[in-house]
Amino acid sequence: MARLRVGVLISGSGTNLQALIDDCARADAASEIVLVLANRADAFGLSRAARADLPHRVIDHRSHGSRAAFEQALSEALEAEGVELVVLAGFMRVLTADFVERWRDRLINIHPSLLPAFKGLDTHARAIAAGVRLAGCTVHFVRAEVDDGPIIVQAAVPVLAEDTAESLAARVLREEHRCLPLAVRLVAEGRVAVAGGRCVVAAPAPAGALVNPAPGTGDP
Ligand code: GAR
Repeated sequence: MARLRVGVLISGSGTNLQALIDDCARADAASEIVLVLANRADAFGLSRAARADLPHRVIDHRSHGSRAAFEQALSEALEAEGVELVVLAGFMRVLTADFVERWRDRLINIHPSLLPAFKGLDTHARAIAAGVRLAGCTVHFVRAEVDDGPIIVQAAVPVLAEDTAESLAARVLREEHRCLPLAVRLVAEGRVAVAGGRCVVAAPAPAGALVNPAPGTGDP
């Protein structure tokens, strides 16, 4: 079966891009990365794309007169490669409703929190400050409102007493590297349907629950 043609948008280190590259290298991959776009020339993810021999380009938002012109350039590059699914993997530009509608249900994002909690930036510091006991990450279809849209995959991790924003970010990032390839795989295999603002996913759910603190002492 033909592999789903994926375009990945990045702004930085690209560890999530790397997770996708590694997953696409598997013999049973359901997708292939046909284009990597960065809005910054210094995004390290571009080197990852080069190392994997993937087509990659910089489309710098600062060299376009308007947000609309920047997004038009993104869309043209993606369409020229026949991209069927756009993945925002640490892409740090807010996209307009026009772009989101143009790619509706063909545009997914990874966000480092258990949405709808902690939309926006500094998610880990805010999670620690709020005293939540579970944090995590979310892969979702993109809608015009920032960090909103039907959820495809989430993973939860415990928040530990000694956590800093950095230690929590590292724990969450490890799960991001599992969740993003899983979400792309589910979409590529046609196992995700969007209905009534939610995703219906044809895949097994895990048994049990992650409880923090772990039960066992003093519980009834
Ligand atoms: C990831 O933690 C991702 O969830 C986050 O940026 C990081 C990119 O890391 N994305 C956002 O905050 C989007 N609002 P990476 O470049 O190593 O994949």
